[in-house]
Amino acid sequence: MLILGIESSCDETACALVKDGIYEIASSLATSSELHEKTGGVVPEIAARKQVEFIVPVLEDVFTKGVKELKLTNKQELVDTIDAIAVTYGPGLIGSLIVGVEAAKALSFAWHKPLIPVNHLVGHIYGNFLKTQTHNSMDINFPAIVLIVSGGHTDLVLMRDHGKLEYLGGTLDDAAGEAFDKVARILGVGDYLGGAKLSKLASECAVNVLENTFPRPKINDTDFDFSFSGLKTFTKRFIEQNSDVYNKSIIAKEFENAVVDVLVKKTLLAAQKYDVKSILLGGGVSANISLRTELTNKAQAFGIPVYVPPIRLCTDNAIYIASAAFFNFTPVASFDIEVSPSLGIV
Ligand code: KG4
Ligand code: ZN
Repeated sequence: MLILGIESSCDETACALVKDGIYEIASSLATSSELHEKTGGVVPEIAARKQVEFIVPVLEDVFTKGVKELKLTNKQELVDTIDAIAVTYGPGLIGSLIVGVEAAKALSFAWHKPLIPVNHLVGHIYGNFLKTQTHNSMDINFPAIVLIVSGGHTDLVLMRDHGKLEYLGGTLDDAAGEAFDKVARILGVGDYLGGAKLSKLASECAVNVLENTFPRPKINDTDFDFSFSGLKTFTKRFIEQNSDVYNKSIIAKEFENAVVDVLVKKTLLAAQKYDVKSILLGGGVSANISLRTELTNKAQAFGIPVYVPPIRLCTDNAIYIASAAFFNFTPVASFDIEVSPSLGIV
């Protein structure tokens, strides 16, 4: 089954063709992130306008690549080969989401293909199901604990099977990615989505002389909720008072360690409680090397395999949207998809 995926929830316009949920055939992505870097945060109006500008060229690009990859002779042949169209309907920015959803509706109508709405957060999970050189999705056994760590969400989910998700807990205030971004800005390493830059700075710290001095909020609580706002404020004050004593890389390292310690401890607690067979990581922050490494190493003691998406599938793209649609094939009866800007994972 060949699915065309469309993702336009924020500042990325992405389209992809995925076969049988696991084989990436073609993908294309355009972003307006450099514009939001200038303003130090996403401007929804600008993001939406850029979605309008990018959507057709990105679709055209993925079609050109798809024809080549599948060794077809023309685009009509590719249209005939597509079985369904999948699109992100939330959460995200309403103006951005509408562009992808309306494009998907129009194509579904014109081509008489089923239309499958995909929750962006569920989509992130499927970054793990694409076949890569390192793993085969068929190895992933259920039940699984999923940790979704993105710019707006930090969710722990029990995944009993495809389509069977139970929300266990999430952040009570800032998401992990949001905390990374805010501290990156305070440290002056990135004004917009600076998480990866903060992490790079942290990797330059040879010895963390601040080890365990930053708070690890809720680390000893037995629930599955998180709170990163206090840690962010603590880090802000620490920088104001100590920036001439400690260099930025040490502060970045200790902040990163504090976030990672909490995420890993809670994920393993949930994995033990529900006696799971796999742990899956998803969302933009799953690109964080320290989180990937710590979680993988610590889960080894419990004999639970950890699956992490390839780095390029951690941040927003349409490949995992098409994959999620395959494994959760629930077409809408009419073209009436409602965009849901503040949708949760379940
Ligand atoms: O999933 P995503 O691409 O967008 C949303 O759906 O929100 O996640 C973006 C988040 C941002 O907060 C970004 O700074 C963070 O993921 N991020 C990272 C890293 N790469 C991206 N945070 C920490 N370390 C990274 N390497
Ligand atoms: Zn995302």
